[in-house]
Amino acid sequence: MAFKIKVNGFDRVADVDGDTPLLWVLRDVFGMTGTKFGCGMALCGACTVHLDGTPSRSCITTIDSVANAAVTTIEAVGDTAAGQKIQKAWLDLEVVQCGYCQSGQIMSASALLASNPHPTDADIDDAMSGNICRCGTYVRIREAIKQAAQSSGQRG
Ligand code: FES
Ligand code: FES
Repeated sequence: MAFKIKVNGFDRVADVDGDTPLLWVLRDVFGMTGTKFGCGMALCGACTVHLDGTPSRSCITTIDSVANAAVTTIEAVGDTAAGQKIQKAWLDLEVVQCGYCQSGQIMSASALLASNPHPTDADIDDAMSGNICRCGTYVRIREAIKQAAQSSGQRG
């Protein structure tokens, strides 16, 4: 069945079964491999995208459930004000180690900054708790979110 969804501002069509995970559609149908597969069970956060600005695990989100939502992925989050600030801070502080988890980390951090321009440590911990990093970049991630927040005088 053909499903029409909006990805990064563009209308896209995927001819797949309705229970196909959004992550599969992004990667295998649309060739957008920036969003990563980790656990496939909503446990690691590697597959995080935004659905109408809300961070969501694309590995457990079926294509038939996103028909009316705007999907934003790591390929375009830098076009948003919050995403731009987060990506700059990530580069400034050299957050990334192996990189595998980082698309998901950036998507969660960008959604946090967009909804809460000046998050507390508790806000950061709460927003990022579902994103696992096997390389242990958590300290740099928190510092980068704080740096991005300092440059955030308005809602992202
Ligand atoms: S791959 Fe989706 S949360 Fe791990
Ligand atoms: S940077 Fe390697 S898993 Fe996070």
